[in-house]
Amino acid sequence: MTKILLRNVIEADLPILFEQQIDPKAVAMAAFPSKDRGPFMLHWEKIMKDKHVITKAIIYKGKLAGHIVCWKEKYEQQVGYWLGQSFWGRGIASSALAEFVNEVKIRPLYAHVANRNIASRRVLEKCGFTMHDEGREESILKLSA
Ligand SMILES: CC(C)(COP(=O)(O)OP(=O)(O)OC[C@H]1O[C@@H](n2cnc3c(N)ncnc32)[C@H](O)[C@@H]1OP(=O)(O)O)[C@@H](O)C(=O)NCCC(=O)NCCS
Repeated sequence: MTKILLRNVIEADLPILFEQQIDPKAVAMAAFPSKDRGPFMLHWEKIMKDKHVITKAIIYKGKLAGHIVCWKEKYEQQVGYWLGQSFWGRGIASSALAEFVNEVKIRPLYAHVANRNIASRRVLEKCGFTMHDEGREESILKLSA
């Protein structure tokens, strides 16, 4: 297991998280649109104050590698994660999500993932998520227990 640390996201993290989420390669991988700086900062200021949203920074070797966010949408409790490109391929997301689902016991937990995002799908499977709803472009995986 790659050694990581999770802590709450703080305001000082936001400029780095912003750069990570506008990376075109990451956007293409996740098939999730990026936000411009203004809307990004507003969105994060809002969710960081919301006690129903869990925002965790992923720390690897003392650096902010990315984040995990968990929120309720309609009836689903969802989880999502995002790493800076320089941190990909080292087992960080797998370790971070495993640690997160160990800490946060809300179940079921759902994750929406683009079908072409093989790495993300693998991260979910390694953490015990299974296929819930397979769509043409995007699927929903679920962690039940
Ligand atoms: C998807 C993402 C979180 C993966 O993070 P990561 O730390 O590189 O993932 P890990 O190193 O833990 O690897 C997880 C698995 O995917 C595999 N993998 C990693 N990159 C891969 C790639 N480009 N293609 C195929 N498989 C890949 C790994 O081999 C590993 O599987 P294994 O343990 O069976 O060998 C990261 O690439 C990212 O943040 N991408 C942009 C945002 C995004 O897609 N977020 C998820 C939205 S649902």
